[in-house]
Amino acid sequence: MVEAASSSAGRERFGSRMGFVMAAVGSAVGLGNMWRFSYVTAQGGGAAFVIMYLAMTFLIGVPMMLTEFAVGRRARMGAIGAMREAGGVAWVPAGFMFVITASLILSYLSVITGWTIRYAIDAVVFGFSPDPGARYEQVATGVPAIGFHLAAMAATTAIVIAGVRKGIERVSFVLMPVLFLLLVGLAVWAATLPGARDGYDFYLRPSLGAVANLSVLQQAASQAFFSLSVGMGIMLTYASYLAPEENMSREAVIISLADFTVAFVAGLVVFPVIFALGLSEQIDESTMGTLFISVPGAFHAMGGIGRLVGFAFFLTLLVAALTSAVSLLEVPTAALMDAWKVSRRTATLVAGAVIALLGIPAAVSQNALALVDKLAGELLVVAGVLAMALMVGWVMRHPEDELMVGASRRFRGVVRLAMFMVRYIIPPFIALMLWVSIRDVFGMVGR
Ligand code: PHE
Repeated sequence: MVEAASSSAGRERFGSRMGFVMAAVGSAVGLGNMWRFSYVTAQGGGAAFVIMYLAMTFLIGVPMMLTEFAVGRRARMGAIGAMREAGGVAWVPAGFMFVITASLILSYLSVITGWTIRYAIDAVVFGFSPDPGARYEQVATGVPAIGFHLAAMAATTAIVIAGVRKGIERVSFVLMPVLFLLLVGLAVWAATLPGARDGYDFYLRPSLGAVANLSVLQQAASQAFFSLSVGMGIMLTYASYLAPEENMSREAVIISLADFTVAFVAGLVVFPVIFALGLSEQIDESTMGTLFISVPGAFHAMGGIGRLVGFAFFLTLLVAALTSAVSLLEVPTAALMDAWKVSRRTATLVAGAVIALLGIPAAVSQNALALVDKLAGELLVVAGVLAMALMVGWVMRHPEDELMVGASRRFRGVVRLAMFMVRYIIPPFIALMLWVSIRDVFGMVGR
C-alpha cells in the first residue's frame, strides 16, 4: 500500500460526511462521558452541575470546536504545521503544546482503558469480586496494570496505523452505534432497579446551594472541553482530513449534541445503580472509584444477571475509550508525519511507544494518574483553549470565511455568534478559569 504523503496534495480524506461525524463523536464520547462526567457531576452537586455543563458545551464548546475546524481544514496539516500556517511562527509553541497535551492525556486514558478490559474479563471469566474496593486496588496498581495499559496502547496504535479511512473512520462507524444501543439498554435496565428514584433525584433535581462557586464552574468548563475533545488539536487534526465544502458548523452542533446526550444517558445508568445499592457515600470520597468500585460492587450484588449486564457495561466503556484513544494518538502521529516526512506507520509507532512509556507511572500509581489528569486534562486543555481563541479570534485571517464555506443560512448565524464568543467572551472567561485551575492544581500538589 502506498502511504499517503503529508503534503496536502496526497493527504488522506474521510470517506464521507457521516464518517467524519462518527469519528469526531467517537473522539468526543469516551471515558469522559461516563467515568469523568459521573464523578465531576457528583462532586459538583448533581443537577446544578449538569445544567452548567450543558451551557458550557454550547456556549463555549461549539465555538471552540469551530476554531479548530477552521484552522485544520484550511491548513490541511497536523497541529503544529496548522498553527504556523494560520498564526505564524509565534504560534508554533501552541501547536507543540497540543501534541504534548494529547500525548499526556492518552498516557493515562490508556491506563484506564486497560482497567475496562480487565473488568470485562472479570465479568465473563471470574465474576465480579465481593470486595470491589480490594479488587479495584488490584486492577489499578501493579505489574498487570502496566500490561493492560500496554495492550490498550497496542490496539490503539494498530487502528491508527490502518489510517484515517480504513482505521479511524471504519472503527468509529461500527462502534459508535453499538455503544449507543448498549448504553440505552443499560439505562432502561437501571430504571427498573429498586431505589433508582433516589439516583434520579440526586442527578436531576437542582439544588441551588451548589452553584455559586468558581471552582465548580471551572470544573464544568473543563469537563466540557475534555468531553468535546477540544483544546488539544484533535478536532483540528480531524478537520485537516475534511473535504473543502463540508458544512462544519452543522457538524459541530451535531457532534456536541451527541456528546452531551451520551453523557446524560450515562448518568441515567450510573446514578441509579449507585443509589440502588446504597453506595452514595462512596461517590465523592473516591473520585476515580465511582465507576470502578461502586458499579462492579452493584453488579456483584446482582448475581448472574449482574455478570451479563456488567459485561455489557464494561464493553461500552471499552468501545468509548478506544475511539477516543485513537483520536488522541492521531495528534502526535499527524504532527510527526508533517515534521519528519515519515510514513504513517513509522509516525504512529514512534508516538505510540513514547506514550506507552509515559503512561507507566499512571499505571502503577493512582496519585500519578490523578495528577496528570489535573495537569493535562484541565490545566493544559484550558490553556490550549485560550491559545486557540486568541489565535483564531485575533490573528488568523478571516476565519469566518473558512467556516462559511458550505454553511446553510441557518448556520451562518451560528458561525457569526460563535466568532463573537471566540473574540470577546471566551478569552476573558478562560483566563479566569485558568487562574482558578492553577490555584487548584497548586493546592493539590501542596497537600
Ligand atoms: N473526549 C473524550 C471523553 O469524553 C476523552 C478525550 C479527552 C478524548 C481528550 C480525547 C481527548 O472521554
